Amino acid sequence: MRILKVNTYAPDTALYQAFGPDVVFDIHRDPSEPPSLDRCRAADAVINCSATLPIGVGAEHFERCRIAVREGVGYDTMDLAGWGARGVPVCNVPDYGTTEVADHALALLLALTRGTSSYQEAVRDRSDGWRYDAAPLVRRLRGQTFAVLGLGRIGLAAARRAAAFDMKVIFYDPYLPNGAELAAGYERVRRIEEVMARADILSIHTPLNDETRGMVGVDLLAKAKPGLIVINTARGPIVDLDALGEALKTARIAGAGLDVLPKEPADSDHPLIKAYRQREAWTEGRLMLSPHSAFYSPSALEDMQRKAIEVIVSYLREGVLMNCVNAEHMKRAPRAA
Ligand code: NAI
Repeated sequence: MRILKVNTYAPDTALYQAFGPDVVFDIHRDPSEPPSLDRCRAADAVINCSATLPIGVGAEHFERCRIAVREGVGYDTMDLAGWGARGVPVCNVPDYGTTEVADHALALLLALTRGTSSYQEAVRDRSDGWRYDAAPLVRRLRGQTFAVLGLGRIGLAAARRAAAFDMKVIFYDPYLPNGAELAAGYERVRRIEEVMARADILSIHTPLNDETRGMVGVDLLAKAKPGLIVINTARGPIVDLDALGEALKTARIAGAGLDVLPKEPADSDHPLIKAYRQREAWTEGRLMLSPHSAFYSPSALEDMQRKAIEVIVSYLREGVLMNCVNAEHMKRAPRAA
């Protein structure tokens, strides 16, 4: 079988070899241009490694392809309907880095509320930086309300971590069945407005889709409890960056920790990014960015690559389909593996 990997990181040849000589990899690393149509036509399976870039060639050009995999959790870059119309399942890799992302959400929160990043900069860069009050968002976390938007794998892992810091966890997730709150052991809030009114910290863990795009925008932020800190490790477009910037600037909210942005890498022309880079006083210690790195650890990167290939091999060798995310778009039965 021939697997075309697009938008790849450095290829891991040793890992590929473990799948045996009949699994042949065609690696397309250059994200600036799509793979040629000949390479797409020859592929039995395609893997898109990028969380932000699409494959670059329409599903209709993958004549032999039996399965398309997003090497990662979020599949908003995959054409679910286009593949589904051809009877091709789209699958993801949901479980390679759950704890890394949850850890990262808490790391952003702790860096802001324990001031570690501000202290580090003050002590290193300024002779008068030996001051406990150099970080504006330091607060007692015990007793704070940590609201999870989307109590899936990562949201639940983040909730467990927040609870371990003695925070009160609440969650909003309209797609979980009744009783999910009993299984999770956290309070379920049915109205998102109530979440905003009660949350000291809002940690976002929903997928990006038509419903969640721009969800945390002007309207919701206007309902925020004073002092809110927004943490986003899910997808950038879920938060309206203009609205968030305005809410930060006017102190409508206290702070934000963002691993993901609507435009990645960070758009230097966006007013909030500009202000952050120019170290405008109102951003200092209140806004923290990381480069869509929440998923990353060397272990996660290896798991992610291996599991993506396992999904393909399992389907093409044994007909066992795992992690299919476009079942509702399948206009016809999956093509024979
Ligand atoms: P999941 O599918 O296990 O959980 C998502 C949860 O969100 C589900 O429980 C679902 O019911 C809920 N949900 C869906 N729509 C909602 C809405 N409108 N309001 C509230 N809840 C809603 O996914 P998982 O594994 O927890 O991942 C969450 C997201 O994290 C992914 O979709 C991905 O985009 C992002 N991610 C980011 C990474 C990074 O490096 N920053 C790495 C991995 C994932």
